Amino acid sequence: MTTVLSEQAVHDRFVEGYRHAESELAREIERCVCGCDYGASSWTTVDEIQTIIELMSLSDSSHLLELGAGAGWPGLYLTAQTGCRAMLTDLPLEGLRIGYKRAVKDGLADLVSITAASGSSLPFANACFDVIFHSDVLCCLADKEMVLLECRRSVSADGCMVFPVIFPVENLSKAEQQLVLAAGPPFAEIKQPYPQLLAQTGWKLTDQIDLSEEFAISMALMNEKLQQYSDELDSLKGENFAADERVRRVNGSKACAQGLLRRELYRAVPV
Ligand SMILES: C[S@@+](CC[C@H](N)C(=O)[O-])C[C@H]1O[C@@H](n2cnc3c(N)ncnc32)[C@H](O)[C@@H]1O
Repeated sequence: MTTVLSEQAVHDRFVEGYRHAESELAREIERCVCGCDYGASSWTTVDEIQTIIELMSLSDSSHLLELGAGAGWPGLYLTAQTGCRAMLTDLPLEGLRIGYKRAVKDGLADLVSITAASGSSLPFANACFDVIFHSDVLCCLADKEMVLLECRRSVSADGCMVFPVIFPVENLSKAEQQLVLAAGPPFAEIKQPYPQLLAQTGWKLTDQIDLSEEFAISMALMNEKLQQYSDELDSLKGENFAADERVRRVNGSKACAQGLLRRELYRAVPV
């Protein structure tokens, strides 16, 4: 039986993932699945970026906050594409250090700031960002409401928040619930639909785009790559970590193929 991970275990898993994110093999797999090479751990692809930029109306006059920015994907790419200023935040320093190096390498250091911070306790003044973005972050943490309230506090009155997130469909059988849990993401389960949660936390939903098909394709591709490079990944990441990842992606592919997991992109504005 699959058990629910603690937030500390999820944090440790991300730390371990970021330790290997700069290896050539990890980059090769990332390029195949998401079309980028930043050390991505979400499912946002290069093909989705233009839609995201348009939803945000992101430009060189915008100030962007990314929560759970990991190793800098896609915040650094959004900055490079638009010339916006960006504040990247996350908890694991291992990811943020990679992001900082990449910002310097790409000549973005003047536009980008990096701060270690939890999404549920942001160390910023009220209303100081035009745009807030997070990529598959809410499905990696328990207290989604607190994070949405903190985002609401931090966004300017005429700003917006854009985010993709993964969640299970409703009315799953016990066996389907187990499959979804085994597939991850670790806190995908929701007590109420995201549009409802947004309304309760001071947001008005303006756009909702279904990315479930694209997500299923990416998951199948990731599954294929992890099988193809299993020996190399065992050596690189250690057998336990690599095997755990393979099992999650096999289950993820099954859950997507059965239509049990959805991935949607939302845009919301403060009420
Ligand atoms: C799916 S990854 C996305 C990382 C990166 N933005 C990307 O697209 O590759 C989710 C990120 O959320 C971060 N995270 C989890 N819980 C968090 C919290 N309470 N506050 C801030 N970030 C959190 C994780 O550390 C992880 O880096």
